[in-house]
Amino acid sequence: MSPGQSGEVCRLVSKVMDGDGKSVLTPDERRVFDRYVTPEAMERRISMGYRHELVYVSGVLAGMIETKGPEQVSMLYIHPGYAGKGLGSRLIARAASRCSSESPKAKFLSVYVTDSAIGFYERVGFVRGGARKTVGGVASTLCKLPLARRERMLSSKMHAASVELFVFTGTGNSLLVAQAAAETLKREGLPVRLRSMDKPCPGPLGEEAALGLAFPVACFSTYPTVWRFVDSLPAGDGREAFVMGTCGGFAGGMQGPLGKVLRKKGYNPIAAKFFVMPGNYGNKKLPVEKNALRTERALLDARSFARDLLKGQTEWSNGIPLLSGLMYRLGQTRRPWDFFYRLFPITADPGKCVRCGRCVRDCPARAVTMAEGADCPAVEPGLCESCQRCVGFCPTGALHVPGKPAEPYRAMSHEAFEAAFE
Ligand SMILES: Cc1cc2nc3c(=O)[nH]c(=O)nc-3n(C[C@H](O)[C@H](O)[C@H](O)COP(=O)(O)O)c2cc1C
Ligand code: SF4
Ligand code: SF4
Repeated sequence: MSPGQSGEVCRLVSKVMDGDGKSVLTPDERRVFDRYVTPEAMERRISMGYRHELVYVSGVLAGMIETKGPEQVSMLYIHPGYAGKGLGSRLIARAASRCSSESPKAKFLSVYVTDSAIGFYERVGFVRGGARKTVGGVASTLCKLPLARRERMLSSKMHAASVELFVFTGTGNSLLVAQAAAETLKREGLPVRLRSMDKPCPGPLGEEAALGLAFPVACFSTYPTVWRFVDSLPAGDGREAFVMGTCGGFAGGMQGPLGKVLRKKGYNPIAAKFFVMPGNYGNKKLPVEKNALRTERALLDARSFARDLLKGQTEWSNGIPLLSGLMYRLGQTRRPWDFFYRLFPITADPGKCVRCGRCVRDCPARAVTMAEGADCPAVEPGLCESCQRCVGFCPTGALHVPGKPAEPYRAMSHEAFEAAFE
């Protein structure tokens, strides 16, 4: 932490202490805190090995945690404008995670808690570990977080009042799991708006709404259209975010880089889950029974994921560091998409095409065009992202990948796909 930042932290702490003009501390307590939280006192503690972690949202210091050694939290403050958005539990989760890795034998993360903050610490999993004591004019209670609960601490209960669930789907798998989760959330009383990621984010998200993203894994990352959408998102302002990815078997940990991008934009990533669904390319013959079983299981998992989100029993892991970082960077170039297209080129059969124009309208990458007077569309390989949507939904099988089943994979009808988004 730089000297400038310690001044900033002190201003944040006084803002929290003052509340809305009603300090939660007695005058004696306030005097002790005022001595503890000065830039000079903080610099002294830094030189003694105390550590500080700061969270900025849209350039504003929204929260801060101070730890004394790996096993004790000595301060935690959240800017009143960002309270209730899960930042506090996220900072505790990070401290607990560091405690486990730096002090593997530690059983607890501990903190001395003033009366007004006990409720928060208990909600995130701390238990009282001693009697209330007054030291130096400040009353506090020793509270302990059993580190065995760390996994659950990696996330926090969803605080949002509604969900904006944005979906990208090639052949319908991701839309199916998103719909299953949305139904469950709605049944539990949380309004959900299902929206498409095909175009950039149209504007600000609903106030108090969490952001949901559902999309397929592609080349251990995801399609350029999805990344373009993520880039277009407005500032998160501490808003919670969750991800539902679908894959054919191995997701490759792409939630790691995605989490970094979302955090940079000011979102609070609380949950990422990947669902194994039918593979949508590469089969010579469709494994119908296996696909049905995978879909059934994934839909059950999507429903229980939605319930876990509400209960705060989800987590956002950090991916597979080297692989996911590499595939993220590669996915931002044309390389994997050009390579994939060379393996599975899309061909139009003029004898089957009825010139309905569906493939032109549906392509998220504007890679399909129908020239005037042409007897079938053309696909531009340099733009195609290989999402398989045009192939999956062509009504006559005119668009196809040579050597693949005449009836390609799709998880739903084109009508269901079109009707899904608001
Ligand atoms: C271009 C392409 C790349 C893919 N890459 C992966 C991958 O890296 N890992 C994986 O498990 N599945 C991969 N898949 C399979 C899809 O992720 C999976 O079938 C997904 O559920 C499709 O979702 P959708 O129907 O919503 O498009 C890929 C599919 C395509 C078409
Ligand atoms: S969706 Fe199929 S039938 Fe319709 S224009 Fe495209 S290739 Fe032709
Ligand atoms: S051409 Fe087809 S496979 Fe390629 S991006 Fe467009 S819809 Fe997806």
